[in-house]
Amino acid sequence: MPDEKGPDERADVGRLYGRRLGRPLRAGRQSAVDSWLPRLGVTLPPAPATLDPVALFEAPVTEAWLEVGFGAGEHLLAQAAAHPHAGLIGCEPFINGMAALLSEIDHVPARAANIRVLMDDARLLLAGLKDASIAKAFVLFPDPWPKARHHKRRFVAKANLDQLARVLQDGAELRLATDDPGYLRWMLVEMTDHPAFRWTARRPADWRQRPADSPKTRYENKGLAGAAPAFMTWRRQPR
Ligand SMILES: C[S@@+](CC[C@H](N)C(=O)[O-])C[C@H]1O[C@@H](n2cnc3c(N)ncnc32)[C@H](O)[C@@H]1O
Repeated sequence: MPDEKGPDERADVGRLYGRRLGRPLRAGRQSAVDSWLPRLGVTLPPAPATLDPVALFEAPVTEAWLEVGFGAGEHLLAQAAAHPHAGLIGCEPFINGMAALLSEIDHVPARAANIRVLMDDARLLLAGLKDASIAKAFVLFPDPWPKARHHKRRFVAKANLDQLARVLQDGAELRLATDDPGYLRWMLVEMTDHPAFRWTARRPADWRQRPADSPKTRYENKGLAGAAPAFMTWRRQPR
């Protein structure tokens, strides 16, 4: 991602490293944002209050799932359509990505029933969620930050894993994907070092193949890094 960022005002999670703004939105996309973001946007309670995510949805969902950095939202939309019992909360600070998702919803408004969004840093949402309130989480192709001096910006890192471990229910899945070999090695170290997570892989196909219910994301379609993607499913260990 280009390095054109503004400082994040919220000191509690630190600065967001990534774009919030891109090219100006086309009129149709701007109108989808104006009409849907107020309806689907999650309002975080003031600390120390926390949010019960299942209560956010108008559809009678039985569990809440989370996607960090949904890009243009293809994966989020597909999961929400395939699993109507689950409420999907997607975080994406980049307005052009949010606009892509909301314009799909604008075309088929029924899709909104089990989708909620935060156009901001996922760390803010994680900090505001109740303990053990998320049944599945996805972090797909997070920004790889390949330069050594930028590694500290990587999302899959101890502080965020501590928060994910806190909000995930016992036995919940955490799905990670990357096509950056350096980030893959980094993820393996961070994840195996963390006591709350266990890798479910039994054979190479378990990380070389995309999970059957997971469509290709836009990033994966672009094949930006060129390397074969790896998909990892981790399980939150019982407390
Ligand atoms: C490489 S893109 C991948 C997008 C999408 N998952 C896909 O596979 O097409 C990484 C995304 O993560 C978002 N992102 C970066 N930092 C984030 C954060 N702290 N919270 C939420 N999203 C973040 C970026 O805006 C960007 O859209």
